[in-house]
Amino acid sequence: MKEISIIDSKNYVGEQVLLNGWIANKRSSGKIAFLELRDGTAFFQGVVIKSEVGEKLFDLATHLSQETSVKIQGTIQEDARSKFGYEIHVESIEVVGESEDYPITPKDHGTNFLMDNRHLWLRSSKQHASMLIRNEMIRATYEFFNKENFIKIDPPILTGNAAENTTDLFHIDYFEDDAFLSQSGQLYLEAGAMAFDKVFSFGPTFRAEKSSTRRHLTEFWMIEGEMAFMHQDDSLEIQEQYVAYLVQSVLDNCDYALDVLERDRELLEQYTKLPYPRISYDEAVEMLQKNDFDVEWGVDFGSPEETFIANQFDQPVFIVNYPKAIKPFYMKKHPERDDIVLCADLIAPEGYGEVIGGSEREVDYETLKQQIVDFGLDLEDYQWYLDTRRYGAVPLSGFGLGLERAVAWITGSKHIRESIPFPRLINRLTP
Ligand code: 4AD
Ligand code: MG
Repeated sequence: MKEISIIDSKNYVGEQVLLNGWIANKRSSGKIAFLELRDGTAFFQGVVIKSEVGEKLFDLATHLSQETSVKIQGTIQEDARSKFGYEIHVESIEVVGESEDYPITPKDHGTNFLMDNRHLWLRSSKQHASMLIRNEMIRATYEFFNKENFIKIDPPILTGNAAENTTDLFHIDYFEDDAFLSQSGQLYLEAGAMAFDKVFSFGPTFRAEKSSTRRHLTEFWMIEGEMAFMHQDDSLEIQEQYVAYLVQSVLDNCDYALDVLERDRELLEQYTKLPYPRISYDEAVEMLQKNDFDVEWGVDFGSPEETFIANQFDQPVFIVNYPKAIKPFYMKKHPERDDIVLCADLIAPEGYGEVIGGSEREVDYETLKQQIVDFGLDLEDYQWYLDTRRYGAVPLSGFGLGLERAVAWITGSKHIRESIPFPRLINRLTP
C-alpha cells in the first residue's frame, strides 16, 4: 500500500493509502467521528464510521487526544464540502506517540501564551501555512538569482565593523577583542561584486534597535543583491522583477497555504504588474504635507507616513532619493544636489512598510573616505572596504530585502513575528 502525503491526496482518489501524521482536532457523534489530521504538508479530515470500522476502532478514534501521532490506513475520497476538497475514510489507526494535555487547544489563547509555546504553535494550520509561503519565497529567491546569473557570496556574521550605523549593533566578546553581529552583508558583497560581477547573499542579520513595532525583529533574514557596472535605475528594475517573481511564485505554488490564510489573490495579482511606481522623497513630503501630515523636509518617515503613501498606489512604490543626512555613509550623492542620495526604499502596500532598502554606492575613493569620517566611523576599520575603490572602481548598486517583512506582507499576517519560525524580539529570546 502506498504511503502518501495529505497535499498529494487528490492523486489517490478511490485508493487505499497509508498516512503518517498527528491528530490536530476531533469531533464525533455516536456513529461518526471526524479527525482533523495533519502530516506536515497539509491538514484534512479523516472520517471514521462506526458501522464500517466496528466498535473497537471507533472507540480508539473517539479517544485520541490532540497531537497524538498516528499511522492511518484508509481510502481517499473527494469531499466537496471542505475547502481542501479531499478526505480519508479511515480503516485502521495505529498510535505512534501519545500526547497528554496539549497546551494549545482550539479555544482562543493570547499571543503571549502562543509565543511562549511557539515550538508547538508552529503546528497550527495558519502558522504552518505562513511557513510554507516563507519556504516558497526562499526557493523562489534562489531560483530568481540563479536565473539572473548572480553568484551567491556568504558574508560573515561575525564582523569587526558597522555596515549600517553604530547604534544598532550587537556587541559580543571575541577572545580579547570586540566583535559585532552583522547588520548587513553589503560591504562584503561589494567586494564580492568586484570579483564576480553580480552577487547575492541570504543570511541572518541583527539589529539591536529598541523598536518593538510589528515590523521589527532583532534577528531577521536578509536577501541582498550587489551589481558591478550598474547604476541605480537598473538596480530598481532588478528589485521590482525580484519582488514580482516572489509574489508570482507564491501565487503559482502555494494554493493550499493561500486558502488556509484566506489571502486575497486579486491583490497579490496586482503586485506582479511591472513597473512599480517611483516617487521622489521630495514628492512624498509634498504629498504628506498636502494631506495634513506634520512632516518637514529632512525627516525620516514613520509607519503612518509610509502607509499613507503606499495607499495612494495599487502596487509597491519606490520612494527615491532621500536626504543624505538620514541615510548611511556609503550612499552616492545625487549628481546635481548635495543634500540627497541615489537610493530607494520599496514600500509595500497594505501598511507593511519598507521591504527593500537600496542605493547606488559612492565609489570615488576620496569622497567615500570623507563620508566615513563625516559619519564618525573609524577609518582604520574600513581600509579593506576602501580597497574596493582603490583597485579598478566601477559603478556599484545594490539592495537588501527583509524576508520577514516580505513574508508578513505576502501572507497578510498582522505582525512580523508570525513570519519567522522562532522570532527574536527585544523581549523574547525563547523558545
Ligand atoms: O534598509 P536596510 O537597513 O538596508 C541595508 O541593510 C542595506 N545594507 C541593504 C543593501 O543595500 N544591501 O535593511 C534592508 C531591509 C529593510 O528594507 C527591511 O525590509 C529589513 O531589511 N529590515 C528589517 N526587518 C525586520 N526587522 C528589522 N529590525 C529590520 N531592519 C531592516
Ligand atoms: Mg532601510
